[in-house]
Amino acid sequence: MEQKRVTVPAIKAMKRVQRIGMLTAYDYPGAKIADAAGTDILLVGDSLGMVVLGYPDTLSVTVDDMIHHTRAVARGTQRALVVGDMPYLSYHVSIEESVRNAGAFIRVGAHAVKIEGGKAARIKTIEALLNAEIPVMGHIGLTPQSVNVVGGFRLQGKNADDARRLLDEAVALDQAGCFSIVLECVPEELAALITERVSIPTIGIGAGPSCDGQVLVFHDLLGMYDGHTPKFVRRYANIGDEMRKAIARYLEDVRGGRFPNASTESFHMSGTEELKKLYGDSVVVPMPKVN
Ligand code: KIV
Repeated sequence: MEQKRVTVPAIKAMKRVQRIGMLTAYDYPGAKIADAAGTDILLVGDSLGMVVLGYPDTLSVTVDDMIHHTRAVARGTQRALVVGDMPYLSYHVSIEESVRNAGAFIRVGAHAVKIEGGKAARIKTIEALLNAEIPVMGHIGLTPQSVNVVGGFRLQGKNADDARRLLDEAVALDQAGCFSIVLECVPEELAALITERVSIPTIGIGAGPSCDGQVLVFHDLLGMYDGHTPKFVRRYANIGDEMRKAIARYLEDVRGGRFPNASTESFHMSGTEELKKLYGDSVVVPMPKVN
């Protein structure tokens, strides 16, 4: 059955009415499963770099990588709002380049883009994107593309000055016209204050339960990534283990001659007459092996 698409205005209208369920997705089958489960927003996150491409951080991810995966995710969704995560250096060089790069996401089926940071320079970029009719999701707190500047993946907004700066950035993102803001790895008290002060939904990851919605990385939620897993992740399944066990069973069957069987998992020629034509009358026609 055709599903009604979640839109940007619908997400904004969910604030204080209904919590928003957001998840990352990187490919067609994953997007299809998450969409069918009822996810409101699917973010093609640049966490792609770590959980899919095997890099230590997100900095090596390119616009081409992101577009390739966004195209697949867009094809896999009917209902979810698809947000493309703009990677490092795709919105830092010039406004013109930022608009072109963001437009590339929209052209392959994203409905919005996300960019990290809330400084004045970012606000100008966001205004230009909105002028180009591209909805923008903000992202503050721990912004992984700034890992070298902040010196690691760590909690942000722990002291009053830092918390005040983040609150100001959230208000600026709201005033600039973002339709929602991801709050990553900030204290619960600060997330609650920001959520109360801004007019748009906040989506938390490591920001406690007061946000208007939550986001997790697909591979973390499903237990498919064995790199560092932060304490805010709740693992709802152990799919990685299930996959390893299934593959080990397959390999055992191949090596033990038990896969494929000759009956239901193989094809056969049509009748002994055809086999005789192939092998000749003089030789014994091999009969299908049943195992
Ligand atoms: O790239 C990503 O997965 C993200 C989420 C953690 C919000 O930015």
